[in-house]
Amino acid sequence: MCGIIGYIGNRKVIPILLSGLKRLEYRGYDSAGVGYLVNKKLNVFKAAGKISELENTIPDFEEETFIGIGHTRWSTHGAPTTLNAHPHLNGSGNIALIHNGIIENYLTLKVKLKDLGYQFKSETDTEVIVHLISFFYEKEKSLLKAVRLALHEIEGTYGICVVSSLESNKIVAARKGSPLIIGVGENEHFVASDAPAIMEHTNNVIFLEDGDIVEVFNDHFNITSLANQTITREIEKLDLDISSIEKGGFPHFMLKEIFEQPESIQNSMRGRVLLSAGNVKLGGLENFIDDLVGAKRLILTACGTSWHAALVGEYMLEQYAEIPVEVEYASEFRYRNPILGKSDIVIAISQSGETADTLAAVKEAKRRNASVLGVCNVVGSSIARESQAGVYIHAGPEIGVASTKAFTSQLAVLSLLTVLIGRRKNLAFSYGEKICQELLNLPKKISQILYQKDQVEAIAEKFYEARNFLYLGRGYNFPVALEGALKLKEISYIHAEGYPAAEMKHGPIALVDENMPIVFIAIKDSTYDKILSNIEEVKARKGKVIAIASEDDKTIESIVDHVIKVPNTLEMLSPILTIIPLQLLAYYIAIKKGLNVDQPRNLAKSVTVE
Ligand code: F6R
Repeated sequence: MCGIIGYIGNRKVIPILLSGLKRLEYRGYDSAGVGYLVNKKLNVFKAAGKISELENTIPDFEEETFIGIGHTRWSTHGAPTTLNAHPHLNGSGNIALIHNGIIENYLTLKVKLKDLGYQFKSETDTEVIVHLISFFYEKEKSLLKAVRLALHEIEGTYGICVVSSLESNKIVAARKGSPLIIGVGENEHFVASDAPAIMEHTNNVIFLEDGDIVEVFNDHFNITSLANQTITREIEKLDLDISSIEKGGFPHFMLKEIFEQPESIQNSMRGRVLLSAGNVKLGGLENFIDDLVGAKRLILTACGTSWHAALVGEYMLEQYAEIPVEVEYASEFRYRNPILGKSDIVIAISQSGETADTLAAVKEAKRRNASVLGVCNVVGSSIARESQAGVYIHAGPEIGVASTKAFTSQLAVLSLLTVLIGRRKNLAFSYGEKICQELLNLPKKISQILYQKDQVEAIAEKFYEARNFLYLGRGYNFPVALEGALKLKEISYIHAEGYPAAEMKHGPIALVDENMPIVFIAIKDSTYDKILSNIEEVKARKGKVIAIASEDDKTIESIVDHVIKVPNTLEMLSPILTIIPLQLLAYYIAIKKGLNVDQPRNLAKSVTVE
């Protein structure tokens, strides 16, 4: 979704803004713009389409300019046009603003402002903010005061950055519901929606909280609240290096991230597996472990891929931690009347930690006095901060829009959580030890699957022109069927559906003919014999079957069209292996179709609007 970068310091601002915007591209966007001060005059350039289009509009630059803001827009209100791109200017062209989020009462405000004579140029909700600031500036003659007063009028969510030729030594920024960080350098400061935008310049950041307004100068900044009280926030050091957000020789972030999985999953488990005790340690949950063991019910809430991870978590936690689990889309949870008891615990799972629906579900659960834990990837993200406790998955930055390594790391962490609770209940030492040992074996087994990439690519070559796909699995691998189908549809635009294999005969079987590729996750687990029967049913109707099978399965080749083998592991951990060939299959199919896998159409990496 939309991205924000701001800079004030002694360096030329345009290259900093443009490289920051390129680092934000992965969030998904459809237009972009920059605004900067030259000799105390505001210049704004915007373009629909890619950052390269924007670069072409910025004139060759002689003058020195040291303060500016940049934005990538993912359209919500108004089409992705140059006019609707940010920054938006006030009528006199001396205040420029960029905004992430949605202003819910913008129509009412727009009518009032129009009545006062303000003229609107765009169809966006954002433009009302800059006119409101302008309105208050007339009275207050202070940018900070004008921004604060404007924000009092606004309902909705925002991360904003404002620059003005009227006060050319500062950026004013504020947040409510959309993340913003301040990067602290030497005699320079950055404002960003997301750490990758500024990571090449500084690792020292301040995470702004909802309700914070900050005035940022070259050499200092002041944070105040909406009610104008002074606020002190710690500078935190981000433990990220720049190579983690570069492609490192891979053609796409998605492929790099698929291939990183042996390492990323190891990072998720590092220091947490106590093999000799047949147990695990999760520092972030130390004060919560008694509550977890005593919980009557866990509610796992998430969206998209993270929701699929939650479904696998449900199988694990019910089987080995013996707790009833419900899995719910965060977008549904937040708007119904979830009945939460005193000993229910809500666990929110989110790679980005910024997904608007998941964040709202967390807030709703807290409002109902439930305990809320977070399982997030991005350190310091809103969900991580809003939760009472939690576990980071430590998968490292995930840039490709299609989530891959975050999914396997989420599953690893949910397995650890299962052992942690299970061992305090009836999970025997010997089985705890077995799970721990198998978890430690997974990186090598993932590498073994990745060696088969050419074989997966050859299968992609055969099927990339298909119009539809079915993905079928049972038990622990039913959520993998959903996730495999999601991967394919989001990056290849091929219609794909995932089902529990047994459901096939209740409807989807009507779709099966010689043109229909069907992916079966058919490893030798407790449902293997049943899956074989489902495969026979498909073959009897001439469907084309691609099977993900166990390495020691010697017979499956004779009944299916294509096989990709995965090493054996415990059934509960098998999704961490079976998803790998499905990620590769989706990737190669999209590549053969000539599509942009890292930035698929209409999608955003971090979905910060409802
Ligand atoms: C799919 C994908 C999305 C996300 C979903 C939730 O590849 O990336 O479905 O999983 O938007 O995002 P997070 O996990 O950041 O809350």
